[in-house]
Amino acid sequence: MALLTVAFVQVRGSSQDEATDVAGTAAPTSIQPIAFPHSIHAGQDRIDCQYCHFSAERSVAAGIPPVATCWGCHQVIRGTTEEQQAEIAKVVGYWERQEPIPWVRVYKVSDHVRFPHMRHVAAQVDCTECHGQVAETAGVIEKPVQSLSMGWCVSCHKEREASRDCAVCHF
Ligand code: HEC
Ligand code: HEC
Ligand code: HEC
Ligand code: HEC
Ligand code: HEC
Repeated sequence: MALLTVAFVQVRGSSQDEATDVAGTAAPTSIQPIAFPHSIHAGQDRIDCQYCHFSAERSVAAGIPPVATCWGCHQVIRGTTEEQQAEIAKVVGYWERQEPIPWVRVYKVSDHVRFPHMRHVAAQVDCTECHGQVAETAGVIEKPVQSLSMGWCVSCHKEREASRDCAVCHF
């Protein structure tokens, strides 16, 4: 019995080490140019989603913030830990070179589909219903929390009595 317990503890120990290794390699293999954490900005600091995604309530696209939005704070906020300072230094670099940050787009439907953010915001469908708990996401957003299939759209439209006409979603 004692032997079994020891073996069990060792297995747990080694699988935890593996988990740490995976987490440790996450940042360098990221698809995004900067390790931007939503958990600090939208979570801890409670910055409103639409402060950055400024066009969600009035246009089709939610919008990705320009580097000037970041500069508003990072002109003075340079980070506490070395890791934070290194990532924020990248933001400063893009600002100084006056280059846009080349964020990689994650949520995207085909060109024959029309998805209007403003209609969903107006109908009070929360961002989290489609994008998950973004404010708690510590790592970069690398893939959608669910497939953006027609079935997904249509089943919510059925539930909420929104239009299911083909022409409403398709060009
Ligand atoms: C301080 C600015 C800022 C705030 C506040 C913010 N975001 Fe973001 N968001 C970004 C940046 C920069 C990106 C691009 C980097 C990335 O994809 O991780 C992004 C990416 C995203 C994406 C993925 C976009 C894509 O490429 O498809 C979603 C979804 C998103 N944000 C939702 C939210 C939601 C929901 C909130 C509020 C809970 C929020 N964001 C708050 C700056 C912000
Ligand atoms: C309203 C103020 C504000 C805005 C706007 C803002 N940030 Fe931040 N950011 C912060 C604060 C506060 C921290 C935490 C710094 C600390 O703890 O020392 C931070 C931290 C960071 C970090 C380091 C996080 C980590 O844990 O490694 C990065 C990278 C970053 N911001 C990128 C961005 C980018 C990119 C934008 C623009 C899309 C942006 N920030 C916009 C306030 C802001
Ligand atoms: C009903 C589902 C739904 C809701 C609610 C929703 N989104 Fe989206 N979001 C999507 C889909 C689908 C896409 C891809 C759209 C496309 O490719 O045209 C997307 C794309 C995005 C993008 C990528 C860039 C862009 O300009 O569109 C960001 C950022 C984003 N959403 C943020 C938000 C924020 C912030 C909210 C809340 C204010 C929100 N979304 C509410 C489904 C949703
Ligand atoms: C979580 C629920 C939900 C999901 C998921 C969802 N929608 Fe919607 N959609 C709504 C609601 C609610 C409305 C508002 C209906 C209204 O204004 O009467 C709406 C409205 C629309 C409209 C405007 C309809 C009109 O009558 O002009 C379009 C277009 C649309 N959605 C496309 C999409 C597409 C494309 C997807 C998937 C990529 C999607 N929606 C996913 C809930 C959702
Ligand atoms: C609420 C929005 C919505 C409605 C209503 C809707 N679709 Fe779609 N449809 C989508 C989305 C989203 C996709 C998947 C697009 C993608 O893969 O990015 C899709 C995909 C398709 C495809 C497959 C094309 C491909 O990319 O493989 C066809 C065909 C199609 N729809 C036809 C229809 C027809 C016919 C109707 C009416 C009976 C209809 N759709 C109604 C949102 C909608």
